Amino acid sequence: MSDRPELFTWGFAANPYPAYAWLREHAPVHKAQLPSGVEAWLVTRYADARQALADSRLSKNPAHHDEPDHAKGKTGIPGERSANLMTHLLNIDPPDHTRLRRLVSKAFTPRRVAEFEPRVQDLADRLLDGFAARGSAELIHEFAFPLPIYAICDLLGVPAEDQDDFRDWAGMMIRHGGGPRGGVARAVKQIRAYLADLIHRKRAELGDDLISGLIRASDHGEHLTENEAAAMCFVLLFAGFETTINLIGNGTLALFRNPGQRALLQSAFAEGDGQLVDTAIEEMLRYDGPVELATWRFATEPLDIGGQRIAVGDPVLVVLAAADRDPARFSDENTLDLARADNPHLGFGHGIHYCIGAPLARLEGRIAFRTLLTRLPDVELAVDPEELRWRGGLIMRGLRELPVTFTPEEGIPPRQA
Ligand code: HEM
Repeated sequence: MSDRPELFTWGFAANPYPAYAWLREHAPVHKAQLPSGVEAWLVTRYADARQALADSRLSKNPAHHDEPDHAKGKTGIPGERSANLMTHLLNIDPPDHTRLRRLVSKAFTPRRVAEFEPRVQDLADRLLDGFAARGSAELIHEFAFPLPIYAICDLLGVPAEDQDDFRDWAGMMIRHGGGPRGGVARAVKQIRAYLADLIHRKRAELGDDLISGLIRASDHGEHLTENEAAAMCFVLLFAGFETTINLIGNGTLALFRNPGQRALLQSAFAEGDGQLVDTAIEEMLRYDGPVELATWRFATEPLDIGGQRIAVGDPVLVVLAAADRDPARFSDENTLDLARADNPHLGFGHGIHYCIGAPLARLEGRIAFRTLLTRLPDVELAVDPEELRWRGGLIMRGLRELPVTFTPEEGIPPRQA
């Protein structure tokens, strides 16, 4: 491809990698006009991306962007910063970020995640029971979507009887793609009211869940306002579900398209080769990760990225999907190599905003792939890969549907589709 590629078209959404390769080579820090009309710098080389993600002169606070607040909703840049759910980890800087991150780290410990494994396994099995006898399924809606929602609801301590409401709200948020408009605005309002009430109830009766852990941590010296607590629950829910859906969806598609690698992973599960399973998850995150662009950053002073001058107030978007296929860092960058050992991918970000849910995401990914490939060993894509449709959002990369067929599992009565 020698001409400047078109960005943000449907063709680009289906396969953005050739366009990113062009940008990496010809315009590594490129000012692009986004579909919303906003101009932003796209950073596509690995070294520049890593540097930008850790650069404290790039603020996460949208107040540093010079758009008026009311216009931000239309552009996808988080607006209305006061007293709402958007004042969360991904939209704030130190020292508030440091305080809140420390607080959530005390409650969201690796031990809590590890203890959660049997619960996630049970969830995955129950979801699969819903379609295993049918011989066909739509994997996004029946498996990849509900698994992380119910998992994070459980972890937070959302009572079982309320979890289907979250499933509906989450569905509304991803169908309408993030910006606080229409159905999304309604869903956000309902979630805000629900979370405020739930936090209130937990305060009265602390349990063993993450929300209670947050309240306990805040009672031991760290300050946490009611709004910060609700915004924290919101970001844990919503940073944690669409990403994990896409790890399962994009990863399964990559396996379908690379049968040799799929066979490798299947034998790793059969033989209990944990190391291959671990490198496989990392490679899926690198090869076609859930987060295509890191979230918004804004220059608080003039700075250089990759030799390009960035002015105060300019938005910067680090293209993780481009950085993770940079041939200057990854050999055979376009090849899915599940045993890849040298793989410092940026799929979970880098620096102070590095994904706090990475251990949970890895656990969910491992269990989802193991359950799927072990219980339905001949599962296959039911359509031509070219027919698959991708969601058109800016930040996330994921499929709308993933129809599959397989030999029905015996012993489970078939359910209606
Ligand atoms: C495969 C799944 C996941 C991927 C690929 C992913 C990716 C990322 C990335 C790239 C960032 C940094 C964004 C930036 O710097 O602009 C991030 C931050 C974050 N993620 Fe994840 N994530 C995943 C799952 C989860 C889960 C399961 C949770 C929670 C339950 C979660 C919670 C968060 C939070 C709260 C942040 C903000 C951290 C901060 O600003 O300090 N993520 N994630």
